[in-house]
Amino acid sequence: MAKILLTGGAGYIGSHTYLALIDAGFEVVIFDNFSNAKPDVPARLQDIAGDRVHVVEGDVLNRTDLDAAFAAHQIDGVVHFAAKKAVGESVEKPLDYMHTNVGGLLNVLAAMEAGGCRRIVFSSSATVYGDTDVQPIPEDHPRTYTSPYAFTKIAGEQILEQLTDDWAVGILRYFNPVGAHRSAMIGEDPEDIPNNLVPYIAKVATGDLAKLSVFGDDYDTPDGTGVRDYIHVEDLANGHVLSLKRLIDTGESHTVNLGTGEGSSVLDVVRAYGAACGDDIAYAIAPRRDGDVAVLTARPDKAKAELGFEATRTLADMCRSSWAWVSGQRRNDK
Ligand code: UFG
Repeated sequence: MAKILLTGGAGYIGSHTYLALIDAGFEVVIFDNFSNAKPDVPARLQDIAGDRVHVVEGDVLNRTDLDAAFAAHQIDGVVHFAAKKAVGESVEKPLDYMHTNVGGLLNVLAAMEAGGCRRIVFSSSATVYGDTDVQPIPEDHPRTYTSPYAFTKIAGEQILEQLTDDWAVGILRYFNPVGAHRSAMIGEDPEDIPNNLVPYIAKVATGDLAKLSVFGDDYDTPDGTGVRDYIHVEDLANGHVLSLKRLIDTGESHTVNLGTGEGSSVLDVVRAYGAACGDDIAYAIAPRRDGDVAVLTARPDKAKAELGFEATRTLADMCRSSWAWVSGQRRNDK
């Protein structure tokens, strides 16, 4: 069975993809520097999956670390998650973002070439579409950036598009991944006050934060609050399995949206989370957040046609799994 290297494999999406790949029969090696992942993630993955978890501790900015991973394992494909992902921080530290996200990708590609592996799945983002009234968005919509973070994702896609024909590349544009694994043993676990909606709501539900600020209720949307295409992280993880299978079976590169095609407003999420945790989520309307768009939803048909990908889990599933994870962690902390 093919052996896959996951850079950033101990992170939120990486760890869920690890389990989906193991379920699909792949061998998997995690490459991570644990800068944004808890050190106990491999042990948790081992508890869930049963078998020993292979981890190479290393940094994508360090070519020697990457070469060591390729020397230790015969790698058939790479999923490159390892990157910085906070839009606001990227405005403060644009060079950091370019260094890690673009420089890191270049290092990974060079190490892959040296190691004789030319199959890569790249974590891209719906942010490459910028602010557009075309909703839901098809993949051939022009790319444009509204932050240094978005710039690095477009640059990554463009670098991959320049590779020679003997490379097979899967570019996956994530919409808004939320939720947690069905085991409730892994999930999203931000250290600081969360920037993103569902992790923030989760901390209101646990009582760690008093109330959610809803950023704007005067958008041109059904209830005036921002609409996004939330996708369960386990569905998203499956998208990576299908992308890798396609690269391995056909060698055909692809660029696809990973979303549900459905939009939910901030207040829809507040209600769904309240139902999941059995308590109302306190909120107050606040001014719009700089850089936010009104609506961002995926056209999901290309991923279905090319990969057979379809998200099956609902917003209620996303909130229930998030709550199971967050409330379980809280019990453990006590
Ligand atoms: N929101 C609030 N209050 C909060 C946090 C968010 O009202 O405290 C609202 C936002 O205004 C937005 C929605 O909830 O309408 C979702 O916001 P998130 O921060 O959860 O997600 P974004 O859509 O802003 O950003 C996400 C990823 C980015 C990615 C972007 C586009 O975090 O990395 O999608 O793909 F670039």
